[in-house]
Amino acid sequence: MSETWTFVCATAELLPGEMKSTFDEVTGTPIVVFNLDGELFALEDQCTHEEFELSSGTFDTEEGSIECVLHSARFDVRDGRALCAPAYTAVPKFPVKRESDGVWTRDDRD
Ligand code: FES
Repeated sequence: MSETWTFVCATAELLPGEMKSTFDEVTGTPIVVFNLDGELFALEDQCTHEEFELSSGTFDTEEGSIECVLHSARFDVRDGRALCAPAYTAVPKFPVKRESDGVWTRDDRD
């Protein structure tokens, strides 16, 4: 678990409909942060089907989902739950915050 917040980008660089990926600076966990209508959400940047990076996929702002580019599994960006096959397991969700004109996240798993 990381107690240290990782800087993702300036708040102005993550506008509604955009996503940014980073790595937790303590654990090395890949994380993708989504701006869905002004609200920020962070998920592990890894599909639970075959561990491909989710940030290579398509962010659907209508549904609030990310579609994996490899086999088209979709996940809800708000909570990480799998929305369709071939993925059945949720993607871990992480905390995210705006502070000092920046976007910050961290892997808070034990
Ligand atoms: S690796 Fe993502 S759907 Fe297969």
